[in-house]
Amino acid sequence: MKIVAANDYSELSKIASKIIIEKVKRKPHAVLGLATGGTPEKTYELLIQDYKLNATSYNNVQTVNLDEYVRLPHKHLQSYHYYMFHKLFNHLDLKRENIYIPNGMASDLQDECKRYDDILANLNYPDLQLLGIGSNGHIGFNEPGTSFSLKTYVTRLTESTRLANARFFEHNEAVPKHAITMGISSILKSKEILLLASGESKAMAIKELLLGGLDENFPASALKFHDNVTIIADELALKEARKIKELKLNESSCCS
Ligand code: PGA
Repeated sequence: MKIVAANDYSELSKIASKIIIEKVKRKPHAVLGLATGGTPEKTYELLIQDYKLNATSYNNVQTVNLDEYVRLPHKHLQSYHYYMFHKLFNHLDLKRENIYIPNGMASDLQDECKRYDDILANLNYPDLQLLGIGSNGHIGFNEPGTSFSLKTYVTRLTESTRLANARFFEHNEAVPKHAITMGISSILKSKEILLLASGESKAMAIKELLLGGLDENFPASALKFHDNVTIIADELALKEARKIKELKLNESSCCS
């Protein structure tokens, strides 16, 4: 895993957006795997800014999202459909038919998981998959204890994830209990993975990711199976790992 240290959230977002923009310029038909949450928000703002300034085109790009809450209408302000369209898709020249997000409103969720697996296989998986990380080590909504071998499935969210996400909802109980998520085996089929971590609340998870072993109770550790992972973490997120040993960061090999 390559580690890129950013001074702060703003720098992290600049580095991440630059990598995505370069990917799209080099491969205009790229399949981008996208994430939601607080962390990629600024990265998406910078993609929009670049689109306006430099007209980087997404006309032939296809996007696949990691996950979506179950039974949260797409128009709900906290649905990942709403998030993606408002924070990114509506501002780029993406074609609607090239956008894929799991449908948490499907009447048959098992069929929906199968449909999503077929989409991923037909697209031959993302060229670049963007990930956040939960403070419990989840990637997508793959919670601790999940088998690394799963494809798309319906997961029950842990209380710690529901609590972490409650900041976006009116009250804790409003956070859905289930979600559809790409499984870890699908995530690992992406050709390249970019994991973003910002802030002190991610410091223990980043320490575990960088210094711990493979463990299904720490889902992000599955990334050790992949040979093209870049972690972009800001200094607050690196704080705990740095206490253990001086990390060798190959900052210059990426994106500067
Ligand atoms: P966050 O979520 O970006 O809102 O911190 C990341 C995640 O839970 O995967």
